[in-house]
Amino acid sequence: MKEYLTRRPRRNRKNEAIRNLVQENCVQITDLIFPVFLTEGTNQQIPIPSMPNIFRFSLDRLLEEMAECIELGIKVFAPFPHLVEEKKDKYGSESLNPDGLYLRAIAEIKRQLPEAVLVTDVALDPYSSDGHDGIVENGQILNDETLELLAKMAVAQAQAGSDIVAPSDMMDGRVAHIRQALDKAGFTNVSIMAYTAKYASAFYGPFRDALDSAPKFGDKKTYQMNPANSQEALLEAQLDFAEGADFLMVKPALPYLDIVRLLSDNFHLPIAAYNVSGEYAMIKAAAEKGWLTHDKVMYETLLSIKRAGAKIILTYFAKEFAQKYKQGILA
Ligand code: PBG
Repeated sequence: MKEYLTRRPRRNRKNEAIRNLVQENCVQITDLIFPVFLTEGTNQQIPIPSMPNIFRFSLDRLLEEMAECIELGIKVFAPFPHLVEEKKDKYGSESLNPDGLYLRAIAEIKRQLPEAVLVTDVALDPYSSDGHDGIVENGQILNDETLELLAKMAVAQAQAGSDIVAPSDMMDGRVAHIRQALDKAGFTNVSIMAYTAKYASAFYGPFRDALDSAPKFGDKKTYQMNPANSQEALLEAQLDFAEGADFLMVKPALPYLDIVRLLSDNFHLPIAAYNVSGEYAMIKAAAEKGWLTHDKVMYETLLSIKRAGAKIILTYFAKEFAQKYKQGILA
């Protein structure tokens, strides 16, 4: 008998009810944003090989998918458009076409599913023949010229019914520019979720498969952040805060949980973390091989992002998490 052991942390783990009582963090269905992929046509549900269980949907099928999610308690969606190569050009002109895939879909989703909240993507890459997030000239990604376009995209999306615009481009000054343009157009209630600390990461591979949006030359290192840096994330956060962002996002999530913690300790805005395509693919692949227990690893992963200080998680697991949570399989 070791009577000198005054502190026995195991006492607080002795049964499930006590473990639940002292549990500090949890994942709720309402914490999650579901990124979804939209493509042209009707009755399309095209699998993405590197993202098992995730599809490119035509609008009709996407509406069904979203209705199912809403039923499960997932109300917030981040749609991304997949365009055929012929629709892409240097200036991403299709992004401003009110009859184009994306803007039409935003309006239709809001009409048919008024409960759905849309976080819409502001960046050029899905529409750009160069596969970059900004306008390219002589191999350079132009900052200020791109800002004009991004502001127009944000306003067009707001007009279509977007609730939250999310610039994922990493141009300098875009939050201020977009805020001003939205306000001028009367959209003072449309929020901005800034991709604040978006790293030049190799974990975006499967997403670029999903959208056919890989850069046609070079990489994104002149605008996305260097994975080696954390001080710089504070600078980006300071700017986005000052420029009027309503949410700060860190992306990817798992290899950057320290950045999630850093921003959540230093800023009084809700922090979102994007559990990106490559993080999803890793778990799916290991589970397919029988090397990891899928549901437990999914839950532990999402929990780790909450524990690091994120209030919100963008994740391809959203629907599956909600289904299994409701069935009582998790926790
Ligand atoms: C680009 C964008 C990317 C993602 C979302 N928006 C990738 C990139 O920068 O090439 C990645 C999301 C994911 O991997 O799940 N604007």
